[in-house]
Amino acid sequence: KKNLQIAIDGPAGAGKSTIAKAIAKRLGIFYVDTGAMYRAIALKSLRLNIPVDHEEEVGHMVQQTEIELDHSEERRVFCDGQDVTEAIRSPEVSRKVSTIAAYPVVRQRLVQLQRQEAKRGAVIMDGRDIGTFVLPEADLKIFLTASIEERAHRRWRELLKAGKEVPVNEVKQDMEKRDRQDTEREASPLQPAHDALILDTTELTIEEIVDRIIALTDRL
Ligand code: C5P
Repeated sequence: KKNLQIAIDGPAGAGKSTIAKAIAKRLGIFYVDTGAMYRAIALKSLRLNIPVDHEEEVGHMVQQTEIELDHSEERRVFCDGQDVTEAIRSPEVSRKVSTIAAYPVVRQRLVQLQRQEAKRGAVIMDGRDIGTFVLPEADLKIFLTASIEERAHRRWRELLKAGKEVPVNEVKQDMEKRDRQDTEREASPLQPAHDALILDTTELTIEEIVDRIIALTDRL
């Protein structure tokens, strides 16, 4: 399908980006990581010493920020022309990002960018509000979940691979806090779309999940 749209939502560490990237590759479609955009804004606040709880200042800053996602295999992320691919994954950014993601001005600007990206062609997009808000007409909506223990463990392993040794309990606590903020916020909270398929990935491998989702797209 020429303008196929797949929405992947779910809490942190559910495997959204790994799965979305694999599907994008198999189907030869675009992948848009919307979390990276929120992370880029959080990183910029930190670098400019704008306290993340200053909504007005963050809102002003976001209007003057250019974010670019590179669609090559490298999937680099640029903020105002600067490569921030690695920097946006720091635990510090992870701890602050949900605060700025709750601001309606921030969401408005980034959602606009996300919808623009979706116009490039067939796309798989992951985030928190893709099925409910960004792409309400998506052909397939998946809500990925997994137990908090499993999710924290996956993220801990990822960080370790990137050379960052953080106690697993700390990872778990940060994650629980972020999920709570994302679920309880007023603007586009994290929740499954009414027409989303909920997939619990606790007991499944990445390959199994990817195969299942690909099988679902065969029918579209
Ligand atoms: O997906 P990732 O974990 O990188 O997202 C980082 C944060 O960005 C989330 O915890 C959430 O606060 C915010 N986010 C959002 N809406 C999206 C994607 C991410 O609010 N569509």
